[in-house]
Amino acid sequence: MLSREENLSLTQVGPGTPAGELLRRYWHPVAVAGELTDEKPIKAVRILSEDLVVFRDRKGIHGLVAERCPHRSASLAWGRVDDEGIRCPYHGWKFDRAGRCLEQPAEPAGSTFKDRIRHRAYPVQKLAGLLYAYLGPEPAPLLPRWDVLAREDGKRWTVIDSLLDCNWLQPMENSVDPAHLFWLHGESAHLVGHRADYEESHEFVRFEYGIMKRRTTPGKNPSDPATLDQHPLLFPTILRHVARMKNGKGYGFRHNLQIRVPVDDTHTQVYRVNFMPTAEDRAPLDQDPPFEHCALKGPEGRYNMSLVPAQDAMAWETQGGVTDRTQENLGTSDSGVILLRKLLREQIEIVRAGGEPMGVIRNPETNRIIELDVINERIGLFGNTSQTAMRPEHAAANG
Ligand code: FES
Ligand SMILES: [Fe+2]
Repeated sequence: MLSREENLSLTQVGPGTPAGELLRRYWHPVAVAGELTDEKPIKAVRILSEDLVVFRDRKGIHGLVAERCPHRSASLAWGRVDDEGIRCPYHGWKFDRAGRCLEQPAEPAGSTFKDRIRHRAYPVQKLAGLLYAYLGPEPAPLLPRWDVLAREDGKRWTVIDSLLDCNWLQPMENSVDPAHLFWLHGESAHLVGHRADYEESHEFVRFEYGIMKRRTTPGKNPSDPATLDQHPLLFPTILRHVARMKNGKGYGFRHNLQIRVPVDDTHTQVYRVNFMPTAEDRAPLDQDPPFEHCALKGPEGRYNMSLVPAQDAMAWETQGGVTDRTQENLGTSDSGVILLRKLLREQIEIVRAGGEPMGVIRNPETNRIIELDVINERIGLFGNTSQTAMRPEHAAANG
C-alpha cells in the first residue's frame, strides 16, 4: 500500500513531476514511420503529457515540435511541410526541426523578430520503423539497439494496440507479476497446459537494464520436465518476451518488445515489435517493417477477450485510470511489484540528485546489438538453461 503522495510521485508523467523527469531520460516511440506519408506528413501525438506534432519534411527527414504555434497557438497538426520544416496553417510562420523560426511572412521585410522565437522541438530517431523521441535534457543518450529492433536475420513486424485508458505503471507492474498468467490468460489456446494447480516458483533479479523475472513450473510427474521462463522488464517501460508460435508448417520463436509509452497520466500507448529468427527471411534496418493495428475492444467497447493483449488491457484499465494504491493489499506473490516500485523510487532520487538512471546508454560499444538472456524452455530436455535464448533451439516448450 502506498500513500496518495507516493502513488502520484511514481505515476505522474508531466514535466517537473518526479516520474516524469525520470521518464524523460529515455527514448520513447511516438509513431510508426509508415504512418507518415506524402499525403499525410504530419501527425498530432501526445507523450509524457505534452502535445506535439511529428512530421516528415519533403526531404524525408522527421521532426517533432510542440503542437501549438508560438505566435497565437493555432495547431501545427493542420500545417504544411516543405524541404525545410513545418509551416503554421494560420499566418504561415515556418519552423525547422530544431525549433528555429525561419519565416514570418506577415512581418515587415528585414524584421529580426523571428530570430528571437524558439519553438519547443525534440530530437527524433528511427529504428525498426519506429520514430523515437527524446524529451529530456541534452545531450541525448544513445537510442538502445535491443536485439528485437536491430537484428536482421529473420522477420520483423509491429503491432500498434488501441490506446489504453490507464497509467503506464499498471502494465509495467504486470510485467513483474507472473502469478496472473494462468488466471487471466489460462483459457487462451497457447496457454492450455499451463497449470495453476502446481506450485510455480518466481524469482526477480535486478540486473543492468531492469528486473529479470524467472518462473519455474514443475512437471506433472517425475517424467515430465519442469519448464523455465525468464523475461526481463527493461526499465522503465518495456517488457521483453518470447513465445512459441506457428511459422508456416512448423513452429518458430517470436521474440518481442512490448513498449508501453506513457501518453499522459491516464493513457498508455503500447507498441509490440516482434522478431522471429528464420533461415529464409531478412529484416534489413533500412527498410521499415510492416505494421498493423490491434483493436483491444469491439464496437460496443467490450474487451475482445479472445486476445491475450485485450485480457491484459481489461485488467489494467479496470484497476482505474491511475490505480488507487492506497487501497491495495499486497501479498507474498507481489514481490516483483514491490521490487519495481523500490527501483522506481531509487531511480527518481538519482535523477533528482543530478545523476544518470539505470539503463541509459552512452557507449556505442555496448549498443551494437543488446542481447538479453531471454528463456522459455523445458529444463532437462534442452540441457543447460543458462544459455542465451535468442537462438530458437533454446526457446522451446509452452508460450
Ligand atoms: S498562429 Fe501560427 S502563424 Fe499565427
Ligand atoms: Fe498478461
